[in-house]
Amino acid sequence: MNAARRPRASRPAPPRLPGRSHSHAAKAGELAELRARLVEAEDTLRAIRSGAVDAVVVAGKRGPRVFTLEGAGHAYRMLIESMNEGALTLTAKGVILYANQRFARMVGCRLKRVMGSSFRRFLSPEDRKTLRPLLERADKSGSKFQVLLNADDRSQLPVQISIRPLAKSGARSTTFGIVVTDLTEARRNEEMLRTLARRVVQAQEAERGRVALELHDHITQLLCAILVRSQALADQLSTRDGPAKAEAIKLRELLGQTAEEVERISRNLRPSVLDELGLVAVLRDTSTEFADRTGVSLRLACVHLAARLPADTELTLYRILQEALKNVEQHARARHVAVRLTQRGAFVRLVIDDDGIGFDLAHRPARRKGKGGLGLLSMRERATYVGGALEVKSAPGEGTTVRAQIPFPGCPLTHPGL
Ligand SMILES: Nc1ncnc2c1ncn2[C@@H]1O[C@H](COP(=O)(O)OP(=O)(O)OP(=O)(O)O)[C@@H](O)[C@H]1O
Ligand SMILES: [Mg+2]
Repeated sequence: MNAARRPRASRPAPPRLPGRSHSHAAKAGELAELRARLVEAEDTLRAIRSGAVDAVVVAGKRGPRVFTLEGAGHAYRMLIESMNEGALTLTAKGVILYANQRFARMVGCRLKRVMGSSFRRFLSPEDRKTLRPLLERADKSGSKFQVLLNADDRSQLPVQISIRPLAKSGARSTTFGIVVTDLTEARRNEEMLRTLARRVVQAQEAERGRVALELHDHITQLLCAILVRSQALADQLSTRDGPAKAEAIKLRELLGQTAEEVERISRNLRPSVLDELGLVAVLRDTSTEFADRTGVSLRLACVHLAARLPADTELTLYRILQEALKNVEQHARARHVAVRLTQRGAFVRLVIDDDGIGFDLAHRPARRKGKGGLGLLSMRERATYVGGALEVKSAPGEGTTVRAQIPFPGCPLTHPGL
């Protein structure tokens, strides 16, 4: 605050002397008023010099204006200077009236150069555009937004800015209190969590692949061998053996069903057709299996892809379909599902649309009970791992649409909107 104590020297314009035409009483009145203002100005200057008041001079259309912050030496100064956040007060036009040392350190600039300058100078051109409407709209509850703060050494700092209007004092226009929170640590933690989650998914995929292989190579082979034996047993028993033959036939049927179920589980864990025949083949298999098993009609439309997508993109799209169909089966009570795989510019898009009961995205039942499911979350995370995005649209009674969009390798990464 000390840097603000010395106001920039600015000589106030000399007061206009009353004209000759004024009456004597009017002249005396104006003179008294001018004297009073002079005394007030002298008091303010004395207070600024003694440190009882902090001030900053801001150039305006009608000459320089002195903004003062009363209460130097008060406890609030200690509090604000010890804060881990940057703290500022701004005029409605974004001029910094006051900044704490922490903010000056954030932007790598000396405090006396920060005060009196424009806050916009520390923002990118896009963020500058958003600042003005935010200042205009900021009400008592305040508003928050995240920006990259431009430091003097050209580095950028991710921060959250919260704006709150301060009470108007007299005829002065509103000033704003701003708290700037450094998000570097939070971003680093988010990144670490994302990396960790990604590794969990990779480990989960590797484990699923291993179990699928075990099931396919060992359990299914064994079951097939038992199936053949039970068939032979049923064949050897004549019709005279009555109940024993019926039992052998029942056993063979049950074994057949068990082998199919094990095969289905193994395919869900890691479909070999995905590696061998590619995405379209696996989408077709999964859709057919879903419609046959659940009785829900499913229409699949796939674009012809000129080349195979990278293995992790194919796996991601397959897992998204799998998870979305699992939700249709468990929650939607749908009669029809439409699945579309399309290509749009440099992106492939997978859309799963059901005509079921839908749900309120903001108030999901499981979320309200504090134990939200993982399906939608994992779909979204998986899409972002491969540079894509996922959007869910739903409303009670209006069905659900899951839309994933993933970039084609080698093409520019601009999202054309989901
Ligand atoms: N297609 C859908 N139709 C109706 N409701 C749905 C649909 N998809 C999701 N929901 C709702 O959204 C909630 C969250 O879905 P999500 O897949 O994230 O978790 P879950 O299915 O409850 O559990 P998990 O997927 O972990 O087994 C569901 O509990 C359900 O209420
Ligand atoms: Mg689910």
